[in-house]
Amino acid sequence: MSLKSTQSSIVFDMSKRKRLYIKTFGCQMNFYDSERMMEAFAPLGYEQTEDAGDADVIVLNTCHIREKAAEKVYSELGRIRQIKAKRRQDGKRTMVAVAGCVAQAEGNEIIRRAQVVDLVVGPQSYYRLPDLLFRACQEGRRIVDTEFPEKDKFTQLPARIIRKSCTAFLTVQEGCDKFCTFCVVPYTRGMEFSRPVEALYDEASGLVDGGVRELTLLGQNVNAYHGIGRDNRQWSLAQLLARLAEIDGLQRLRYTTSHPRDMSDDLIAAHRDNHKLMPYLHLPFQAGSDRILAGMNRKHTSAQYLDIVARIRDARPDIALSTDIIVGFPGESDEEFEATLAIVRQVGFAQAFSFKYSPRPGTPAAALDEQVSDEAKSERLARLQEFLSADQRRFNEGFVGATMSVLFEKQGRHNGQIVGRSPYLQPVHASGGDQLIGRTCDVEISGAGPNSLAGVIKAARLGIIQAEAGA
Ligand code: 5AD
Ligand code: SF4
Repeated sequence: MSLKSTQSSIVFDMSKRKRLYIKTFGCQMNFYDSERMMEAFAPLGYEQTEDAGDADVIVLNTCHIREKAAEKVYSELGRIRQIKAKRRQDGKRTMVAVAGCVAQAEGNEIIRRAQVVDLVVGPQSYYRLPDLLFRACQEGRRIVDTEFPEKDKFTQLPARIIRKSCTAFLTVQEGCDKFCTFCVVPYTRGMEFSRPVEALYDEASGLVDGGVRELTLLGQNVNAYHGIGRDNRQWSLAQLLARLAEIDGLQRLRYTTSHPRDMSDDLIAAHRDNHKLMPYLHLPFQAGSDRILAGMNRKHTSAQYLDIVARIRDARPDIALSTDIIVGFPGESDEEFEATLAIVRQVGFAQAFSFKYSPRPGTPAAALDEQVSDEAKSERLARLQEFLSADQRRFNEGFVGATMSVLFEKQGRHNGQIVGRSPYLQPVHASGGDQLIGRTCDVEISGAGPNSLAGVIKAARLGIIQAEAGA
């Protein structure tokens, strides 16, 4: 038997223990996709490893949203080339796949530039990953699959594997039809697609049976959700949230990321009426000037954004708002940047993600004249972030002395410390034992930092839990 066929049989030999290493870049949806990729390999006897040197299959699940995203992937592939060479010397075969949005955007270019890669697979066809890798392995050829297949990939994936975590992501919607002029998502993730309500209910119920208490519904444009419901009609995100809230044992629901245009009345009302829906909303506004917003093709004005914020606060006065902001979009003047600061001052965000505009090849804004200098962008970003950090600190400090319900997720960095999330998504640290992980406890907040809170678990609740654990 040749070395090649021996090695290929190891990668796909069902009787052998094999290891899969997945490195995930970017957004929460990529993390969800990575979990599902792992699940697609599990029936073939694969276990996940944190050590690429130990892996029979290496997958890079890539993100294209940040600057120089593709270059970062190529440099990562340089490291993987060394790992693969070392394993080859030890008589071991390694198959390497690039998945995700860089795979979609770069396609054949990855095969051309990186000899180490056996397979390039876009976000819509990763359910075929094991199959395609098997073919690449058997036939000794390199494969690119960046089609947007007709099939709903989620129906092609195996059932969810029960995980230990008490929080989980659930992709309910993918793709985007908005075509903001700075953004690659409509090109890498394709047109909007919503999964059917009952398939999501079943997946969510399975996760809750496995111990999940908090679900975050994901979508590039999650509030444009319009999946088919039990009555064969299109259901809104608010309706989907109401259906999922019926699941016993599920305590908390969240969703991200939303577009202001799709913040419908029923979704705003859900923030008042759906008691499992947490008081936190990530609603990007990107820029404060209406001229820049038009240039971005955002399809909303700053007044419309502020009106939505007012209506949400009416429905849920304690809601924590988070946002995305871009500074230095082509043509943005100093005055126009001031309009962005004005929105920040008016809204008072609990959290925000802010970026310097950076041109993405193939997007309309990349071709615009009047690109803003990097110096001006850096200055604007620094000023903006000063305001945002102060707001975030103020928001956190406002909870000192208050009692919040915290769902504890994992051990903290220090001995005897556990970490959870408040309803407003702040990490909360407290002293407590492992038996509290997966539980929701009342915590009296004793301190606030820029990014997290510290507190003491209320004794009464702790006593009950200790009694239960001892029983
Ligand atoms: N330049 C800077 N920021 C961008 N974002 C998306 N594309 C770009 C770009 N070309 C930001 C937006 C978006 C977030 C996920 O990333 O603010 O909401
Ligand atoms: Fe990109 Fe979001 Fe605009 Fe869609 S709505 S194009 S995902 S920034």
